Amino acid sequence: MFAWVRRRAKALSLASVAGLLGFWVATMPHPLRPADIPAHTANIENGKLLYNIGGCISCHMSVGDAAVPSGGKPLSTPIGMLYPPNLTPDPETGLGKWSDVDFVNAMQKGLRPDGSYLIPAFPYTSYAHMKVEDVMDIKAYLASLPPVQNKVMPHAVVALPLIRRGLGLWQWIGLDSTKFVPEPTQSERWNRGAYLVIGPGHCAECHTPRTLLMSSDVSRMFAGGPHPDGKGQVPSLRSLAERGRYKDVKDLVLAFQNGEELGYDKMSSGGMGEVRKHIASLPQADVEAIAEYLMSLK
Ligand code: HEC
Ligand code: HEC
Repeated sequence: MFAWVRRRAKALSLASVAGLLGFWVATMPHPLRPADIPAHTANIENGKLLYNIGGCISCHMSVGDAAVPSGGKPLSTPIGMLYPPNLTPDPETGLGKWSDVDFVNAMQKGLRPDGSYLIPAFPYTSYAHMKVEDVMDIKAYLASLPPVQNKVMPHAVVALPLIRRGLGLWQWIGLDSTKFVPEPTQSERWNRGAYLVIGPGHCAECHTPRTLLMSSDVSRMFAGGPHPDGKGQVPSLRSLAERGRYKDVKDLVLAFQNGEELGYDKMSSGGMGEVRKHIASLPQADVEAIAEYLMSLK
């Protein structure tokens, strides 16, 4: 009897050691190294445009000044309150000491310079589809901002180190880092729109429903669903014309550029008000590109 219990206990502890080892190996970070990213002459203007459509300021604003990405404005998520970090080039509390490859690892692999995993409330799952050069341009734009010293509060999340390590497992299913590939049968404008929507615009983070494992359900891309912050619904972006939401591309462009002012009332709540302003800040050609792509979704 006792021998049996002892044997069982031994088997169990062997299994748990193997399990732990497996977990450890499966969640080991694999960051890019400096040689993995291309040599690139930064284009700060392009970086600014992508920063705008990327909506970085929506989450990384400071409590005091809504125009500066020095971080700290609380972001409520289902796992607890997060305090998005300081993105200004302050060497102590911001990104001042980050190299290009550190930045690309954060934006496209969800990894911090110390190898810990970033929480995907930071939409790196979308930014991962961007061109590496475009990500480097955002870094160059951020580096051109005045440094602001602002140490943000630690996240209020239970068992955060364990969650961070566990995210390594989640990334196996939740992080698809294939780069955007243009659709050769479509126009250049359509492809530009698709890129902005799928990559920097991270529209799928709200407009695509999630599976039980919290990864995007790609079979229902842009079909709408529960709001990721837990409150209310996000509408579908499919068949916008057929459902009578917008007459044509021009109508949707007007909606993005004017919102409620012209009576377009489905773009103001649940974070969409800020997204709409970011879209409206783009050059006319890019707003048209986004609208053309969206109107083609069936
Ligand atoms: C929806 C909210 C949201 C948006 C939009 C967002 N971020 Fe973040 N970001 C976060 C949160 C939350 C964290 C912290 C994640 C963590 O601690 O694991 C973060 C972390 C980061 C980090 C890691 C910094 C560090 O010190 O660890 C970088 C770099 C970053 N974001 C850059 C950006 C850039 C650039 C953009 C725009 C292109 C952007 N973020 C847009 C929420 C957001
Ligand atoms: C933070 C979550 C969030 C993100 C990110 C987001 N949206 Fe939305 N979107 C919403 C919500 C919520 C609504 C409904 C708002 C309302 O009814 O006032 C909406 C509404 C819309 C509508 C109107 C739909 C209709 O039926 O009239 C369009 C078009 C749209 N979003 C496009 C986009 C595009 C393009 C992007 C990316 C650049 C984007 N959204 C990113 C949450 C989001």
